[in-house]
This record gives sequence, C-alpha cells and structure tokens, in this order.
Amino acid sequence: MFSLIISSSILNADYLNLEKEIKSLEDSLVDSIHIDIMDGRFVEHTTWGASIITSIREVTNLPLDVHLMIDSPERNIEEYVSSGADTIFIHPESTVYLRKLLKIIKKNKIRTGVALKLDTPINVLVHCLDLVDTVLLVTCDEGFGGQPFHPLSLKKISELKKVRESNNLSFSIEVDGGINMKSGKQCKDAGAERFVLGSLIFKEPTDRSGVVHRFRNNIDSDNQKVRGDKNE
Ligand code: DX5
Ligand code: ZN
Repeated sequence: MFSLIISSSILNADYLNLEKEIKSLEDSLVDSIHIDIMDGRFVEHTTWGASIITSIREVTNLPLDVHLMIDSPERNIEEYVSSGADTIFIHPESTVYLRKLLKIIKKNKIRTGVALKLDTPINVLVHCLDLVDTVLLVTCDEGFGGQPFHPLSLKKISELKKVRESNNLSFSIEVDGGINMKSGKQCKDAGAERFVLGSLIFKEPTDRSGVVHRFRNNIDSDNQKVRGDKNE
C-alpha cells in the first residue's frame, strides 16, 4: 500500500521571491518540492542548473524531487547527486547510460527516478525497473507548465501497474503535467500514487493550502468513505 504524495512543481513560481514561495508551499502542506531542470535542448525551455537545488535545500527540509530534462545527464550527474536532491529523475530519451546513472544515484543514497515523455512507451524502461524507486509519467506535452493533461497517460499508468504487479516490484507511480482535480482522480483510479501539481497551486495565490487540502481529499475520497463507513 502506497501513501499518496503531493509534490509541488516550482516552474510557475515567482523566481524573485522563491524563498517566500517555498515557505508558502510548506504552509500548504505539500509533501515535496518538484524542481524541473531544463536545458533548452532536451526540451525547448531553459530553467536552472544544480546550484538552485543547493539554494533551495538551505531554506527547506521538504524532500526535493529533481526532474532532469537535460541532454546526456551523464556529463554532469555528479553536480546533481551532490546538490541536496532527495530524488533524481532521469529520462531514458536523454541518455544511453540509464542503468549506469541509476546506479550512481543509488550509490549516493538518493532515491532513483525514471521519467518518461508522453510519447515514450513504457517498454523502454522495463529493463531497469529493479533499480527504480519512482516512475514519473509526464502527462502533458513536456517542457512548460499549464498545459492540458493527455488521457493517453491513463493507459500508461495501468500498464505500468500491471508490470509492477507481475514482476513483484515496488516502485511508485507519479504523474506530472496538467494535473487538476479531475485528472488527478483519474490518475489515482488508474494506479498513480504521487502527483505533481504546478499551475493548480500557482494560479491560486491566496488559498494554496485550501487547494492542496481539496486535492488530497478528492484523490483520497474512496479511502475516506471506507474510513467513514467504519465509524458509522
Ligand atoms: C512539465 C513539467 C511539470 C510542470 C507541471 O514538463 O515537468 O513539472 O511544472 O506543471 P502543470 O501542473 O502546470 O502542468
Ligand atoms: Zn516535472
């Protein structure tokens, strides 16, 4: 049984007030911070390098989940494993050294993640699932916040869940991109346990904790019914 995890992407945060933004996410009771590292090559957009992770590490104790959307991460993986990250996600589309990179991450006692673009089928990662703590499915066209959820992702979640069961593995399934109340619940019902929220939180400047609370209640509604039934 996996616990449901809400991770907040800071891609749409106010970068001039990042520390304040992180504190506001802590107050909203998210479970972790999701940091998208983009190099303008693997994806169109460019964000930060490893130093932002170290700076964020200094102002929060929340787990830092680093989504590496960069070409050939083997060139600078050492920077990322020493940055203060708690989980590092590698895209198989970005490297021919996936297993090697996962082993480096693991050796540094950091949680291992594999992230898949929307168009990438899950069979590209089956050979390395024994090394993986979390599979992150990008559930929109990657590279920008605020894009619509793609329903193709629901099939990928179910497939991944089947692979996990039939191989007796224990990785968790995370979804990232266009997650809102409706798509979040659909992903939960298909088998996801971890949810990245970007614009859902950042388009709400005044009541972020309310949004996180409602999202958590919504995805967890079946369990709440069961718990409620027991109390009746
Ligand atoms: C998309 C990024 C996401 C993005 C999610 O490529 O990986 O982390 O910030 O933002 P929303 O929830 O707005 O789609
Ligand atoms: Zn991401």
